[in-house]
Amino acid sequence: MQKINIFDTTLRDGEQSIGVNLNELEKLEIAKQLERLGVDIMEAGFPASSKGDFQAVQTIANSIRNSSVTGLARAHKQDIDIAWDALKDSVEPRLHIFLATSPIHMTYKLQKTPDEVLASAVEAVKYAKQKFPQVQWSAEDASRSDKWFLVKIITEVIKAGATVINLPDTVGYSTPAEYGNLFTFIQQNVPNIDQVILSAHCHDDLGMATANSLAAIENGARQIEGTINGIGERAGNAALEEIAVALHIRNDFYKAKTGLKLNEIKHTSQLISKLTGMVVPGNKAVVGANAFAHESGIHQDGVLKEASTYEIITPELIGVSSNSLVLGKHSGRHAFKQKALELGFELTPEKLKEAFDSYKALTDRKKEVTEDDLFTILADKQTEQINVKTYELQNIQVQYGTNNVPTATVVVKAPDGRFLEEAATGAGSVEAIYNTLSRMIDEPIELMDYKLQSIGSGRDALADAYVKVKYDGIESGGRGSAQDVLEASARAYLNAVNRVIVQEEIKKERLHV
Ligand code: KIV
Ligand code: ZN
Repeated sequence: MQKINIFDTTLRDGEQSIGVNLNELEKLEIAKQLERLGVDIMEAGFPASSKGDFQAVQTIANSIRNSSVTGLARAHKQDIDIAWDALKDSVEPRLHIFLATSPIHMTYKLQKTPDEVLASAVEAVKYAKQKFPQVQWSAEDASRSDKWFLVKIITEVIKAGATVINLPDTVGYSTPAEYGNLFTFIQQNVPNIDQVILSAHCHDDLGMATANSLAAIENGARQIEGTINGIGERAGNAALEEIAVALHIRNDFYKAKTGLKLNEIKHTSQLISKLTGMVVPGNKAVVGANAFAHESGIHQDGVLKEASTYEIITPELIGVSSNSLVLGKHSGRHAFKQKALELGFELTPEKLKEAFDSYKALTDRKKEVTEDDLFTILADKQTEQINVKTYELQNIQVQYGTNNVPTATVVVKAPDGRFLEEAATGAGSVEAIYNTLSRMIDEPIELMDYKLQSIGSGRDALADAYVKVKYDGIESGGRGSAQDVLEASARAYLNAVNRVIVQEEIKKERLHV
């Protein structure tokens, strides 16, 4: 079996998805889960792009011990120096330099001749290699580049010290056959190619990112880049969970495997969906809520007789044990703490107690508390445990009647400890709540998006609300869950505001240091 290295770029290319804006603590939480999942390399950000990105990359580089942490850089000395400052204390400092090689990009974006591009690439890799033991070089827009120019530039950057060569399908233009052929061509024509690992990086504009990545593996790629849930620029990146599971299920064909712990896939997907606010479509391969559901009578009948008739992947493979918890109504704190650790949550004793209380309250109200419910409770508490004073929802009351104007009365504890009480009306109940909350909060808030979904099935399922707001001029996404949709909606709104407050506090603390 050929081992395929997994290069996760959820925190860099994935974070470039429209509307996604993770703060440093959320990035660290995701990085720890990616480490648990067993990714070989994680791209934590683009250190030279902003102070926030620098800090996040540095924090992740200093905390992660079982995956190699990398950061992106343009072919500029300044970017490389900044990236070195962020990554130098990581277990295996690794840099990812990119430079476009296609005629379109070189002419219009870079406004450089091919010879100038070649010289910049070689100079950047040589410079980086003086600091970093591992240097990956990416030929941005490789799939639309001249193949012989690629041969020339790759030969030279390998001589300059690159250890990984990446051939991105930057705009998701390639077909599987073309992309596979590119890998074969490069291996046949670059004389020193055996000194490096070849990597594939695909985007999903034509829905072919997974197929293209697998075609690259068939043709010699030994590293695959992508994101969890396939999030990323435009239509997104290749979904790593799809590639890893495809290699596992069809190992008879691909004869290749990853080092991922496949049973961490579901939790990783849920965490990323929760923190980014990007909902996973129900029919999404591998991690969608319906990926293991059978609706038609013929299928149900077949599965009952013999699961393999219609099921090629078991839910257990990706960590969906049986959706009912092993914890019961009478489970104690100790068992609860163990389960939380098993799910990857390290909470302070205070937040663990609050999570336990919420769990107990839910077992009183809900017939069957599922692992997804528990995950939601724990993830909410983990977000709250950041030591910054924020808005806390105390009480909410809504009056609604088909012929009355909906009115909400809300009590909130403000960051300064005061209890605020307000009431307002709206065209609907959610709008009444949001109008009330925005009256209580000092800075103007603009609601930009609102989504509601249920966690699990059944009439007593938890509601999960997602909102995007502009608060204090900053766009922020927030999520909230509760058994009642109105409470979940209020929590999501406050969560979005609180995330801006936390981010601002972190920035202020940094300035004091
Ligand atoms: O899609 C792309 O080309 C990239 C590069 C920075 C590798 O993300
Ligand atoms: Zn990309």
